[in-house]
Amino acid sequence: MLIKKPDDIKSSEITDKQLYLSRREFLSASTLSLGALATGMAAPGLLLGSNEAQASTAAKLNDLRKSKFSTDEKLTPYKDVTTYNNFYEFGTDKYSPAQLAHTLNPRPWTISIEGEVKHKKTYDIDALLKLAPLEERIYRLRCVEGWSMVIPWAGFPLSELIKQVEPNGNAKFVEFISLQDPKQMPGQRSSVLDWPYVEGLRIDEAMHPLTLLALGLYGEVLPNQNGAPVRLVAPWKYGFKNAKSIVKIRFSSTPTASSWMKANSNEYGYFANVNPTVDHPRWSQAKERRIGEFLKRDTLMFNGYAEQVASMYQGMDLRKFY
Ligand code: MTE
Repeated sequence: MLIKKPDDIKSSEITDKQLYLSRREFLSASTLSLGALATGMAAPGLLLGSNEAQASTAAKLNDLRKSKFSTDEKLTPYKDVTTYNNFYEFGTDKYSPAQLAHTLNPRPWTISIEGEVKHKKTYDIDALLKLAPLEERIYRLRCVEGWSMVIPWAGFPLSELIKQVEPNGNAKFVEFISLQDPKQMPGQRSSVLDWPYVEGLRIDEAMHPLTLLALGLYGEVLPNQNGAPVRLVAPWKYGFKNAKSIVKIRFSSTPTASSWMKANSNEYGYFANVNPTVDHPRWSQAKERRIGEFLKRDTLMFNGYAEQVASMYQGMDLRKFY
């Protein structure tokens, strides 16, 4: 990744936690009451809360189920989650996506399911929103650059979608392909990565109950800079696995090189499991800086999800399969 050190967030930009927690309480308390005031959004279950305009203009996601997979760690403030981003389609610095991603149009939007499946089909994003009950999943996100966040995603397990399309016996890997459209994504006019952005998972990883198809965060639809309208979240892997603004999901018998592997296969492997004992060639992965905190903390094996995922890698040399 074209990254240096992650110590570039000014303390003045780290917004007071209390403000965000109270905003969060306000959001959940107001979800129901704002329903009556809602202006129309395409999908049922989505309500655009007009009273919420000052804090955010994003549409709310109602009736999010709580998840047993959520961490109870302190949330990263909304402002940091939505202004400190990696989304190279909108530039290579962290602040560009929030400033530039207004050119992305998340409606209309479709995701096509291709490759080794019984039911190749195209889902409209509003149909996808209704495919399974939406859950709130509070996950740690650990970026390969050495910073981390705790984000309340909204979405459903990717396995729900996979079960519907019925992969056949050849389907061993799943590829996630982001939108390619330089008109909407000005960063694609530069060849910093091989576009479109592509990431992949092994089928068992894709089916794992932790793997989320995220459609929102902080109780609202995904902001453009966070990968609207739909992105992947596999929380035990480095953040770059989580392809944003997905338009295609392809099942295949062989793994496909991801955009980062093509850019630098020495530095970025297919698995990209968070592993504090395997350094990036240019820096240690032993510690991380939680956004909003001053002191670094130890990075946990599989980003703290070892109990749930370690068995998938039994017998594998994780230095070789990084
Ligand atoms: N997806 C696309 N399409 N383009 C990107 O540049 N960056 C990745 C990942 N998904 C990226 C992407 C990286 S490096 C990280 S760390 C996460 O998105 C960041 O997600 P966030 O900005 O929502 O925190």
